[in-house]
Amino acid sequence: MEKLDLLYEGKAKKVYKTDNEDVLIVDYKDDATAFNGVKKGTIAGKGSINNRMTNHIFKILEKEGIPTHYVEELSDRETAVKKVEIVPLEVIVRNVAAGSFSKRLGIEEGKELLCPTLEFSYKNDELGDPLINSYFAKAIGAATQEEIDKITEYTFKINDILKKFFAEVGIDLIDFKIEYGRYKGDVILADEISPDTCRLWDSKTHEKLDKDRFRRDLGNVEGAYEEVLKRIGL
Ligand code: C5P
Repeated sequence: MEKLDLLYEGKAKKVYKTDNEDVLIVDYKDDATAFNGVKKGTIAGKGSINNRMTNHIFKILEKEGIPTHYVEELSDRETAVKKVEIVPLEVIVRNVAAGSFSKRLGIEEGKELLCPTLEFSYKNDELGDPLINSYFAKAIGAATQEEIDKITEYTFKINDILKKFFAEVGIDLIDFKIEYGRYKGDVILADEISPDTCRLWDSKTHEKLDKDRFRRDLGNVEGAYEEVLKRIGL
């Protein structure tokens, strides 16, 4: 497969065209941003960790019946993926209160929720990805009811699979964000699943092993990302 022109450069990834019109190459960067790009930095080795971890997880999810954009890992940082049209929704699941949920509802971080929650944010940097519901999503044409139903079904299944996957290596899956894309009439899992997009706490010590270390200046950001990778056996 030949890597052609740069198609798009985002905050954490570059995306290239290839000689196959259905396939793109994603190149993960070490750049880190938070608070909608207000805080910027680099996390050494992050690109490689997020690439390898995402691919490992996507392969597991595929085996469990979740369709994903994964095609082939090309190098430490580069992966061939199906060319999708991103559904402009950030889909967030929470098992334990943290982050914006704790702030919005005044519930202390770390409080276990009675059931997992599902929320949608409208992907729009200028507006700061506002929280919306499924009626908003339909009304603004972000997704159809059929797509929302599929996304909801896949997302809760992904939560069940990932909660078990991380629990086996002593990590609690607090919450995570995923994105979906449209591909040949179907909705499939796209983007990434990594310490950038999940809250991962050590099950015993509750130490944060994710991007909150960067967002909140907790130190040892690289060490935390490497620890997650090591625990999942990569
Ligand atoms: O900030 P908040 O509590 O809403 O984040 C919930 C989850 O979604 C966290 O795991 C966070 O890392 C992830 N997230 C993300 N990208 C965003 C917003 C949130 O990966 N733009």
